[in-house]
Amino acid sequence: MRAGIGYDVHKLIKGRRLVIGGVEIPYNKGLAGHSDADVLTHAISDSILGAASLGDIGLHFPDTDGEYKNISSIILLGKVCQLIKTKGFAVINIDCVVVAQVPKISPFVMQIRQTLATTMGIDVDNVSVKATTTEGLGFEGKGKGISAFAICMLNKKD
Ligand code: CDP
Ligand code: ZN
Repeated sequence: MRAGIGYDVHKLIKGRRLVIGGVEIPYNKGLAGHSDADVLTHAISDSILGAASLGDIGLHFPDTDGEYKNISSIILLGKVCQLIKTKGFAVINIDCVVVAQVPKISPFVMQIRQTLATTMGIDVDNVSVKATTTEGLGFEGKGKGISAFAICMLNKKD
């Protein structure tokens, strides 16, 4: 059994779609970044790579590579799951937290969990997604950005 942690931050700016956990959330701003800037999917991908000691998504999908411009991060998560599979690892479960003052994530949590679970090929019961504000404190609290934390458990077949 191997545990992994992931953390990511993206800026909120006008004129971008807001995609969290592969689900588009209606809001007047979106996350800035080279890919779709899906902060939650990035944190989860890093937690999986971390548990397998395989680096991070910046290493596997560099933002200098035009191939990954505006790519859906769900595709990258799928590639991460393929990679760990070739090394004999399987995801047991994921838990994560989205830190955002606004918008409200809870109405979308079930859709996010299902999207992530389908991408990773695991049961939705093994994918937990939570959200919190920071009560107005810090960059998330001021609405300047959104952060996400993720932890995962992998097992390795002998
Ligand atoms: O301190 P606590 O996390 O309980 O309170 P909060 O940060 O005010 O969040 C209250 C509820 O709103 C939590 O149950 C979160 O799941 C939800 N929430 C959300 O859906 N979307 C956010 N961006 C922030 C919080
Ligand atoms: Zn990111």
